[in-house]
Amino acid sequence: MNNAPDREWNSVMKRMFAGISRRYDLVNTLMTFGRDSAWRRHAVRTAMLPAGGTLLDVGSGTGKISFEAKRLDPALTVVALDLTRDMMVVGKRSDRKKRILWVNADALALPFDDCRFDAVTSGYLMRNVPDISRAFQEQLRVVKPGGRVVCLETSPPDSRLLGPLIRFHFRFVIPLLGGLISGRWDAYRYLPRSTEAFKTPEELALIMAGEGFTGITYRRFMFGTVAVVAGTRPAVPPAGPH
Ligand SMILES: C[S@@+](CC[C@H](N)C(=O)[O-])C[C@H]1O[C@@H](n2cnc3c(N)ncnc32)[C@H](O)[C@@H]1O
Repeated sequence: MNNAPDREWNSVMKRMFAGISRRYDLVNTLMTFGRDSAWRRHAVRTAMLPAGGTLLDVGSGTGKISFEAKRLDPALTVVALDLTRDMMVVGKRSDRKKRILWVNADALALPFDDCRFDAVTSGYLMRNVPDISRAFQEQLRVVKPGGRVVCLETSPPDSRLLGPLIRFHFRFVIPLLGGLISGRWDAYRYLPRSTEAFKTPEELALIMAGEGFTGITYRRFMFGTVAVVAGTRPAVPPAGPH
């Protein structure tokens, strides 16, 4: 379904995330001062899953959102989907009781029937896909009418007062910390660069609205550098060519 440039981009992503997979969680926790778990918990709560429902976590990586969802409701069925096997291998090691279903696939071509899940989450995925609209279309397709699609992402710093400090953290602290711990300097230079070039929560909300989501909400964290944007699939499917 994807074209050649998308496949090429996906290969770059796979290589990059495979390279940092073993240290990914540690670097994440250090560079967010341990706040990353709270944002993932907020993302899961925003999904408003019914008890014992079904969740798809797209771009699951090592499964941090998926594990959080299972912790909040052990009766949930959680599918963790990611492009990079090595990220999931790290996650599977922590999943000794096999509480999560792991699927290796592309966010732009989800291997599921329509209306399959009660909610869909993604964490730090959208910055990395070659086509954000297409990713949201796929998530809209597989979520049930009335279900929520929740996107946790970094966003360009917007605080004028703290701007220089945040930029220092982004441009120097993160690449240094990530580079030293993972040995992959390129990946942790890509993170701040892609964040500064990425959409604001308002822009993401507009894209979601354009794809037919309703009830769109967003909340910022960490001086506006992280946001959770969410929308609902309307009960009646959106009209149009999607
Ligand atoms: C920054 S990590 C986020 C992992 C996890 N969601 C978290 O909260 O920490 C981004 C993940 O998205 C995955 N990814 C990138 N492009 C993808 C795509 N097109 N389809 C599925 N997963 C993708 C990467 O392999 C990586 O594991």
